[in-house]
Amino acid sequence: MRVFRSVKDLGPLDVALKEAMEIKADRYKYQELGKNKTALLIFFNNSLRTRLSTQKAAMNLGMNVIVLDVNQGAWKLETERGVVMDGDKSEHLLEAIPVMASYCDIIGVRSFARFESREDDYQEKILEQFIQYSGKPVFFMESATVHPLQSFADLITIEEYKECKRPKVVLTWAPHPKALPQAVPNSFAEWMNAADVDFVVTHPEGYELDPQFVGDARVEYDQMKAFEGADFVYAKNWSCPGVTRPEDYGKILSQDMSWTVSERQMAVTNNAHFMHCLPVRRNMIVTDDVIESPRSLVIPEAANREISATVVLKRMLEAL
Ligand code: CP
Repeated sequence: MRVFRSVKDLGPLDVALKEAMEIKADRYKYQELGKNKTALLIFFNNSLRTRLSTQKAAMNLGMNVIVLDVNQGAWKLETERGVVMDGDKSEHLLEAIPVMASYCDIIGVRSFARFESREDDYQEKILEQFIQYSGKPVFFMESATVHPLQSFADLITIEEYKECKRPKVVLTWAPHPKALPQAVPNSFAEWMNAADVDFVVTHPEGYELDPQFVGDARVEYDQMKAFEGADFVYAKNWSCPGVTRPEDYGKILSQDMSWTVSERQMAVTNNAHFMHCLPVRRNMIVTDDVIESPRSLVIPEAANREISATVVLKRMLEAL
């Protein structure tokens, strides 16, 4: 595997899930695979889970790891070609990428949506440059539009905790004080569409996700109706994807607190498990009661980030 950004990059999901379970049972089984290989993890944005779990995954495989916080100690990077660099940006990404690539074998990049232009964000201008100019395998550690390591961990968690063959999984929008990207819901929708689940998306009107990710998934604007009989409830905020009105891209269209996931909505589910990628704002996205309940999976879900990252790095090492 040379690039990891989509569920399609993994091949058959049953094989990937089997591999994940094998690694979970013995996470050091492939310690020799990464000997004398280096993973470079580049963060343009903050992280707790992705940083720690991906480092741990690389160490599970015997790799050396370098972590770079671009905004803390590195030269400020220009990302646009043709700019006269007379401002505060000292280095261009077009030199920085091949230099960074010369020190490693595999590169992970986190670079969020900037909300300056829907076109730039959805074209993945930063990540595409890493793919084009690094000459190394590149995996997405949350980009402008996708968060595949999270969705793979989510799928592993659903596989572990499902109580019927084909569970009902509901992705629900929930309110948040800041405008957040669509990376997590985009990837979650893409991965659930590929998985053997009954998938429903619920959000206020105007928050329609990009068709390339949501596909033919059922969209239900009545949150209570969507929650009926659900086995898993996955909560997340996202800002306007600009699908129906491009001029609204990245805007907050609603802060309706009746969408906060509480016992009121969970009561109509099939005793659903609660999921969220974290970090989560309590009593905005979800009430204390729900996130602390025995049906909440937020901690095992985060723990599975180590497993999803180990599978992905293993596949990349095998392809070197
Ligand atoms: N879920 C997730 O990616 O967490 P971090 O932003 O802390 O890495």
